[in-house]
Amino acid sequence: MPTTEIVFIVTLVLYLAITRWKRRREDSIIPEPEPKQPEWRDYSPIELQEFNGIHRSLVFLAIKGTVYNVTMGSKFYGPKGPYSAFGGRDATRGLAKSSFDDEFIPNAEADDLDDWSDLNDDEKQTLDDWKAFFDQKYPAVGRLISNKEAAEARAKAENVIPEKTQKN
Ligand code: HEM
Repeated sequence: MPTTEIVFIVTLVLYLAITRWKRRREDSIIPEPEPKQPEWRDYSPIELQEFNGIHRSLVFLAIKGTVYNVTMGSKFYGPKGPYSAFGGRDATRGLAKSSFDDEFIPNAEADDLDDWSDLNDDEKQTLDDWKAFFDQKYPAVGRLISNKEAAEARAKAENVIPEKTQKN
């Protein structure tokens, strides 16, 4: 048999063996389990930032003080999604204004929560329509509280001496 034919056959056999092995390997990869629905709790804007699909697989956003688990909509709100600006953030003002501009995303470090009472009637209506959409599509997982309130709650919890250790 001429050498070129032998080289061709050997290359073909190798190619088929490698593609088969690769496919088997891919099939055996077990997909990551979906994270369980987290328990209801309070989130401060600083804590909420963690849930943007970069730091953890869960994606949350807040609307009018309610935190939603939008992980199943990661293609929208995850890092590569068109609405990633809302992932891990308070989306209230942005949805009301139909904008992802930074100026409508409240600073997560601020002491107090954004107050949306200054929105006009049209914006409030748009916001309520979006809220109804999220209520219907995504599970609510908690309440958005201010960083100040969260810090106070933490300080209170740290100062409370458990009854058992208290001396009479
Ligand atoms: C050029 C402008 C826009 C286009 C073409 C567009 C297109 C779309 C489409 C096609 C969907 C449905 C996707 C699906 O169900 O598979 C969608 C959903 C959505 N859009 Fe837009 N959009 C635009 C602008 C905006 C703006 C300005 C906002 C708000 C700031 C916005 C917020 C949303 C939200 C929150 C959803 C729901 C995603 C979900 O199901 O969780 N969109 N958009």
